[in-house]
Amino acid sequence: MLEIENLDVYYGASQALKSVSSKAEPGKITAVLGRNGVGKTTLMQSIAGHVSPTSGAITWQGKNITTQPAHTRARSGIAYVPQGRQIFPLLTVQENLETGYACVPRGHRTIDPEIFDLFPILHDMRKRRGGDLSGGQQQQLAIARALITRPELLILDEPTEGIQPSIIKDIQSVIAMLRDRGDMAIVLVEQFFDFARELADYYTVLDRGEVVLAGEADQVDIEEVRGHMMV
Ligand SMILES: Nc1ncnc2c1ncn2[C@@H]1O[C@H](COP(=O)(O)OP(=O)(O)OP(=O)(O)O)[C@@H](O)[C@H]1O
Ligand SMILES: [Mg+2]
Repeated sequence: MLEIENLDVYYGASQALKSVSSKAEPGKITAVLGRNGVGKTTLMQSIAGHVSPTSGAITWQGKNITTQPAHTRARSGIAYVPQGRQIFPLLTVQENLETGYACVPRGHRTIDPEIFDLFPILHDMRKRRGGDLSGGQQQQLAIARALITRPELLILDEPTEGIQPSIIKDIQSVIAMLRDRGDMAIVLVEQFFDFARELADYYTVLDRGEVVLAGEADQVDIEEVRGHMMV
């Protein structure tokens, strides 16, 4: 279980997050929504340990991790798929996956065959360079690389950004499958409302660094959520 309480984050003098709270639970998807520049990525980077909040608390599996470095969080089961994918274009697909080993104990450095079951295209293309893959395939690679660590919390920052619709469907079913296994908490940042709506169990909607709406999927007013995402 992940709990975020009253997080404040500043970039210099400008406040990017204002007392933001949220949560994520195993077997559930928390959708973090909102327009451009409202602080979604800042929140994800705070969870992953790439940005330091000035106040507030992040608790993961009962432990306060607010000041823990990113690599310690990665070892404690938190995996982060950054916005824009950030795969290594000159490394092969196989090598990109192996970069995920850095935070896996030595005896466990194997690629779980399940990863290729989830993304068969990556098996077919494992000797190709990451940069030769389509945007959608690169996104699949970025998710697969995160799964190498067998995470218990998976953070996905806009996995549909700039991706062709056929692959969006594939990614959606993989995310649903991971959720339905029941042992992984998922935080999904989205600007594509329909995609988020089909997956969300819990909503956190941000506007200008603040939570403007939050609640279980069956309790929030879905039109109000949509309204906060329209430009
Ligand atoms: N490294 C940084 N230094 C200074 N300001 C930043 C930095 N990163 C983000 N910001 C600012 O903080 C605010 C929130 O940015 P953030 O990237 O978290 O938003 P976002 O909701 O993820 O946006 P998008 O939908 O475009 O991905 C924006 O005003 C942005 O310009
Ligand atoms: Mg962002």
